Amino acid sequence: MIYLDNAATSFPKPESVFRGMDAFARASAANPGRSGHRRAVEAEAMIDETRRLLARLFGFSHPERLVFTLNATDALNMAIKGILRAGDHVITSVLEHNSVSRPLNQMEKAGFITLTRLPAGGDHTIDPDDLAKAFNPSTRLIALTHASNVTGTIQAIEAIGTMVRERDAFFLVDASQSAGVVPIDFEKECIDLLAFTGHKGLLGPTGTGGLVVGERVEVAPWREGGTGGDSSSPVQPSEFPHRLEGGTPNVFGIAGLREGARLLLERSVENVLTHERFLIGELFNSLENPRAFSWYGADCVIAERKGDGRIGLVGINLPGFSPAELAAILDERYDIAVRAGLHCAPYAHKHLGTFPDGFVRFSAGILTTAEDVRQAASALNEIIKG
Ligand SMILES: Cc1ncc(COP(=O)(O)O)c(C=O)c1O
Repeated sequence: MIYLDNAATSFPKPESVFRGMDAFARASAANPGRSGHRRAVEAEAMIDETRRLLARLFGFSHPERLVFTLNATDALNMAIKGILRAGDHVITSVLEHNSVSRPLNQMEKAGFITLTRLPAGGDHTIDPDDLAKAFNPSTRLIALTHASNVTGTIQAIEAIGTMVRERDAFFLVDASQSAGVVPIDFEKECIDLLAFTGHKGLLGPTGTGGLVVGERVEVAPWREGGTGGDSSSPVQPSEFPHRLEGGTPNVFGIAGLREGARLLLERSVENVLTHERFLIGELFNSLENPRAFSWYGADCVIAERKGDGRIGLVGINLPGFSPAELAAILDERYDIAVRAGLHCAPYAHKHLGTFPDGFVRFSAGILTTAEDVRQAASALNEIIKG
């Protein structure tokens, strides 16, 4: 199988991730912090080490304020619902995944908040000037994706974060597509809340993710329960990470995520990004007639600028085939896994003019090889010839 759907979830996982989960499940597997015995202490130490590794990866100096969640959706809901108050104004963009758009749309529909959805420019980025104009005295939160899962473009989050900080609002970054792929510096980029998923670029298993909570921001817990610490308290403890981590965590998953974070720190995120960009360029360059396809996210950037400003994904359509048909042919005839459709980001496809059918997305990962993308290009060359 040729797997080019890493933006949905990374596959395969590195061997060290499989081994780390297996070893942890066999040797320890206790409930962290719930009991005083050695295995429970080991489980807690493993989780804390993962917090420290991820905090290092994100340039964040308070690992205890990195809380584990089920995925990015969980983290984004936790952030959005834990910080907004009645009457707040929120700024977001057309590039967002439904895990940002839907909770915000629902709150707007309920009359709880007001919402501004910024357009993206022809280069699929958010113009900081548009953002500046959208502020009003009630603006409390700016919620933006770092790298779009549809256009593949990376936003200028440092410029945006600085502007948000100057205006005393909070900056929530959806790093689902960028964590482990694009360098992130939480402090320098003036981020207040960073939501990430563990199963994409961070190379962990599904069921892992987290929210990094900066010191300026208060997030009310929306899941309360056992934390293993002070059980006598009638309410959720206020200290991190317990404040936002009610319930037994996904210990096996986090054991895998720890290995993903170790590997990324070893190889460096910059190298991963270079590798994935190269692969998308290689896909483009291996096509006999790339102009026969419609390219979304700027083919000239891929060909001429080596993918600068983008992550390693690209969307295409082929006239005469619906995206679903093209993806099905790639799967059934060539055993190539890609993703067709709207990618849970309908506003982004409206921005591109590909709504409602979407396009076929090819996304590379750390373990994708040049041969994988050449074979995908060769399948596309054959499909064109009929
Ligand atoms: C930009 C973006 N945000 C959020 C998510 C949600 O991630 P998860 O399904 O792991 O919660 C995704 C997943 O595709 C995504 O690409």
